[in-house]
Order: sequence, then structure tokens, then C-alpha cells
Amino acid sequence: MSRHADTGRHADTGTAPDTSAAPSTSAAPGTSAYAGTGTDAHAGTGTGTAPRTRTVVALNGVTKEYPGPVAALRGVDLTVEEGELLGIVGPSGSGKSTLLHIIGTLDRPTAGSVHIAGHDVAALSDRRLSALRAQHVGFVFQAFHLVPGVSARDNVAEGLLYSGLSRSVRRRKAAEALERVGLADRVDHKPHQLSGGQKQRVAIARAVVGEPALLLADEPTGALDSASGEAVMQLLRDLNREGATIAVITHDTEIARKLPREVRIRDGQVVADVRNPSSVPSMVTGAGR
Ligand SMILES: Nc1ncnc2c1ncn2[C@@H]1O[C@H](COP(=O)(O)OP(=O)(O)OP(=O)(O)O)[C@@H](O)[C@H]1O
Ligand SMILES: [Mg+2]
Repeated sequence: MSRHADTGRHADTGTAPDTSAAPSTSAAPGTSAYAGTGTDAHAGTGTGTAPRTRTVVALNGVTKEYPGPVAALRGVDLTVEEGELLGIVGPSGSGKSTLLHIIGTLDRPTAGSVHIAGHDVAALSDRRLSALRAQHVGFVFQAFHLVPGVSARDNVAEGLLYSGLSRSVRRRKAAEALERVGLADRVDHKPHQLSGGQKQRVAIARAVVGEPALLLADEPTGALDSASGEAVMQLLRDLNREGATIAVITHDTEIARKLPREVRIRDGQVVADVRNPSSVPSMVTGAGR
């Protein structure tokens, strides 16, 4: 399914997270292939007003085994619709990062199927999978992973390296992304000249500069104090309100409770998938603590 050869280049940035835009994305033909895969149990639960949603992530029966043997994931079913903001929560070693890596196509499952933006991951070669990832997925990690000695602007521009855009356009878009995360006055700063929270915001700018269908964040607040962590979470909520689909790993139940959807993992299995109806972003800011 959906093996159209669009993953090599992505001049088409039609996956812009603006849900009001015409969904003329390259992924569109494939999405119909698995729309309504029986995992629409949460349809109509208020994650958006559009009656027609597009499935960004569909995992069915995903298992991941490591030598040992370790069953890091055991039969995970998970569907994420466009425009969702969900937390993946669970104890250390429960399989959260493994799950995020599989959703982000950094890793392939031992068994089960993975569809990302309409593409069946199993049907793609590693090369085409890399292209799919470059086009559709943005990553944010706990330890930022910025390139040392390189300005914030060029770190962010790196997120567009495979976009086919000229260097000057990449740098202009990078500056715009930095402005979006509140760092317009830090574009020429190098990582060692930035605070932890600022570094994480640079990393988020890098992840979203290409307007990916999906933003994945693995403990983005893990290395930050609570105020910087809250600023980063607020930024993610703002980006989600602008249309970005976001999955964020956290072991902080306080943070998770403020997210619209919480997927709880234990011993490699989804043990709960709950909606937090009270988590209207503007209402929860500053709550708790
Ligand atoms: N490359 C690997 N080889 C073997 N076992 C692994 C590998 N990666 C992860 N595991 C094991 O798989 C399980 C799940 O690991 P994972 O990193 O997904 O947990 P996690 O929920 O992200 O934990 P944490 O909160 O500590 O980051 C763990 O038991 C871990 O030891
Ligand atoms: Mg982890």
C-alpha cells in the first residue's frame, strides 16, 4: 500500500500542521488504506472539531524483542490522529523509548505493523524509510543533541538539510522557527552560551522547522528545572494548538495529567489510554505544584 515514490524528495511540504489547510499531502493516498483500522475507539472525544481526521500513527500488535531475550514491547496497539497531543507515561524500563523509536521509524518492530502518515513501514527499504522520517517526523531528546560550536540558527537549519531548500532559505526558516520558540534574540548563540531550557527550545525549533506530520519528544523536560520544564511543555501545547501532532514521553505524572491524552505503559504493554478532558491548555498553565 501507498508505495508511491514520494519519499525520496520532499519539495512537497504539504504536511503543514495547519489543519485548516487543504490536506494535499503526499501521504493522503495511503491514509485511506488504513483509515478506520478498528482503532477509532476515541473518535469524537474532542481532540478537534474536524469531523474528518487523518491517522498519523497506527501501530497494530507491535512487539519488540531484544537479545537477552527482553520483550521491550508486547502487542502494542496505538493510533494517533492528526492534531493530537499525547503523553506516553510509565516506569523506567517499561518500553517508552522503544515505543517512540518505533513510532519514529528509527527502529523496526519484531512483529506487528507500523503505519506512519499512511506509509507501511515494513514495505519501505531503509533508504526510503530515512526519507520518510526526514519528511514526516521531528525528534526532541532529553539531552538536546545540539551540535557544539554551531549557532542556534545553524543547529535549527540542520533540520532542513534534506529538504532540497537552498542554504539561505534554510537559514531564514531556521530564524523564523527560533522566533516561534521565543529565541529571536539568540539566533547567533552557540549551545554553550544557552541555558538548558533555551537549548531544549532550540532542539524543538529544529524538530519543527520542517513542519513534520509528527513531533516526538523523549523526556524533553528531564534535564530541566521545573520552571524551564513548564516553559517547554507550554511551547509544546502552543505548537499543538497551532496544529502539530505531538507525542511526548514523560515519567512526571503531574505533566502527564495536563495533557489531553495519556497512554500508560507497563512491562511493554499499554495498560491505559485515557483522555484528560480538563486539560484545556490555557486553563492548566501554572496549575498544580
Ligand atoms: N538495545 C537494547 N538491547 C537490549 N535491551 C534493550 C535495548 N534497548 C532497551 N532495552 C530494554 O528494553 C526495555 C525497555 O527499554 P526502554 O528504553 O524502552 O525503557 P524506557 O521506558 O524508555 O525507560 P526509561 O524511563 O528508563 O528511559 C528495558 O528493559 C531495556 O533494558
Ligand atoms: Mg527511555
